[in-house]
Amino acid sequence: MNIMNSPTRNRKLLAWVDEVAAKTRPDRIYWCDGSKEEYDLLCAEMVRGGTLIRLNEKKRPNSYLCRSDPADVARVEDRTFICSANKDDAGPTNNWIDPKEMRAKLDTLFAGSMRGRTMYVIPFSMGPLGSPISHIGVQLTDSPYVTVSMRTMTRMGKPALDILGESKFIPCLHSVGAPLAPGQKDVPWPCNAEHKYIVHFPDDYSIISYGSGYGGNALLGKKCFSLRIASLMGRDQGWLAEHMLILGVESPQGEKTYVAAAFPSACGKTNFAMLVPPEGFDGWKVTTIGDDIAWIKPQADGTLRAINPEAGFFGVAPGTGMKSNPNAVKMLGRDCIFTNVAMTDDGDVWWEGLTDESPSHLIDWQGKDWTPESGRKAAHPNSRFTVSARQCPSFDPVGDDPAGVPISAFIFGGRLSKTFPLVYEARNWQNGVYWAAVMGSEATAAAENQAAIRRDPYAMLPFCGYNMADYWTHWLGIEKKAKNLPRIYRVNWFRKDENGKFIWPGFGENMRVLKWIVDRVNGRAAAAEGPFGFQPRYEDLNWKGLEFGKDRYRRISDIDAAEGLAEAEDQTVLFQSFGNRMPAALETERRDLIARLKSAPPVWTAG
Ligand code: GTP
Ligand code: SPV
Ligand code: MN
Repeated sequence: MNIMNSPTRNRKLLAWVDEVAAKTRPDRIYWCDGSKEEYDLLCAEMVRGGTLIRLNEKKRPNSYLCRSDPADVARVEDRTFICSANKDDAGPTNNWIDPKEMRAKLDTLFAGSMRGRTMYVIPFSMGPLGSPISHIGVQLTDSPYVTVSMRTMTRMGKPALDILGESKFIPCLHSVGAPLAPGQKDVPWPCNAEHKYIVHFPDDYSIISYGSGYGGNALLGKKCFSLRIASLMGRDQGWLAEHMLILGVESPQGEKTYVAAAFPSACGKTNFAMLVPPEGFDGWKVTTIGDDIAWIKPQADGTLRAINPEAGFFGVAPGTGMKSNPNAVKMLGRDCIFTNVAMTDDGDVWWEGLTDESPSHLIDWQGKDWTPESGRKAAHPNSRFTVSARQCPSFDPVGDDPAGVPISAFIFGGRLSKTFPLVYEARNWQNGVYWAAVMGSEATAAAENQAAIRRDPYAMLPFCGYNMADYWTHWLGIEKKAKNLPRIYRVNWFRKDENGKFIWPGFGENMRVLKWIVDRVNGRAAAAEGPFGFQPRYEDLNWKGLEFGKDRYRRISDIDAAEGLAEAEDQTVLFQSFGNRMPAALETERRDLIARLKSAPPVWTAG
């Protein structure tokens, strides 16, 4: 251990770096300082090695395109494990392997796994530097792509190391699992085709990831630390780590209200976080604090305050256009890395939905020639951009405030083509926990052209680091930890008509729902009490600037009692899978719902 030449005196960190290097055998060890020079140098090296392509400097300054291996394009849920000592503590929704067995397996895989490569030491803070809600991690990785991405996505480098001092950190070990023999030529996107493991050890809050270089598999500060490990820390320490965006709403009078919203992956968190109010909302402003993750802590004053642990956005590119998300298009003008999008003939990027009409020729995400007649997508559906949050025109400077923001409402919503209305407010905290727990989203089963609901409680199904039933118990317990409890809402932008078309225009128009929620929590908006909860009557929403009649509104707000009862019945499958870990309060809520639906008219209307 060479303490003199290291940028830290943290003995645990130095010992860990030595131990990992002895096992993985990298050619070099490099300590990241997080500077722009370092970022530029690493990118230049990756351009030389063929990993990055520098984009047209005039069109997209200081930006790069990266093409991953076609077999490494998304998080791998079936290779993600929670290795708690007891299987039951991981619960029925997580993959589990005995931690001893898993460590032995990983030991074998990591032996010599970094040969021929550099091991980067990446100290990082999840959350604003020095915030009482933030936590420090250190990632060891043999991927320069991961290293530069971590600089954008976290507060990375020397400042984080200085804050760490000699205290504890979350160790995050990552290897792409592609050692190089002496003289062997590297490939643009090294990864391991055979073995992939994304592993979490609850007993010592540690993370080990092998074989993939993509997104949440490899940027370990994101899902692995900020959700799976942090959810455990939150359970043990009395706070919440959630798959939620955070946004602020400013009224024309300057009143600011902050809300956090959980939608499953690919259900529009980034769009909602950057919403631009439509016509009819003069003077209203929406500001962005985060688009994917929230850490929320009960405060001494009885509020819940939230930070976005991330410093950047790793957002889905397809579908991002001037109509759906103008703020995102603007923030992507420079200093970005795009992964698996298409390239235009003049060295810029393109993806489905960026423009109405596609260019006549492109190089697709796999580097092949593409024309509109090709009959395949030019950009991979999970292609993503990596960009600093500060580049977002709607970024709220309080996003850097160590104190975080007070949360007034939690919003939950998946893709549901029927049964669920545009918006409703839960009756109380316990009822809201129930509605968040049973949340689902549709994956279209192509065969029958029928929508099957995948239950995704709290949008946390792939991200909860422990038994989901215990997580619900933890949420129920928050009621006693906060005086000013946020209200809880369900929303659904995805109701379809008989032709399979979305009835609600969505995107910026979601402001109409958001304003009603803000007005509710500030005591200004009326509602009708229905079987699901409190819903706005037609006249309770602001319709200025949008032609959307009362009849159409009924089609996305009426509650069909038979459909509701079928839904309540279907929820038993989820609840029963947790056996006796299941908190009784949620079953009570389910039965209360059934009783309300049985005494409701066949079709209940808010009015
Ligand atoms: P992760 O980054 O994977 O966690 O996902 P995300 O929640 O940020 O979702 P993403 O931005 O990928 O979701 C975008 C998808 O949602 C696109 O298919 C959009 O068209 C769709 N979407 C977003 N907002 C709306 C809306 O208001 N209405 C409709 N119909 N679709 C929407
Ligand atoms: C998600 O899948 O919810 C994401 C993308 O945000 S990834 O970071 O790759 O997990
Ligand atoms: Mn996500």
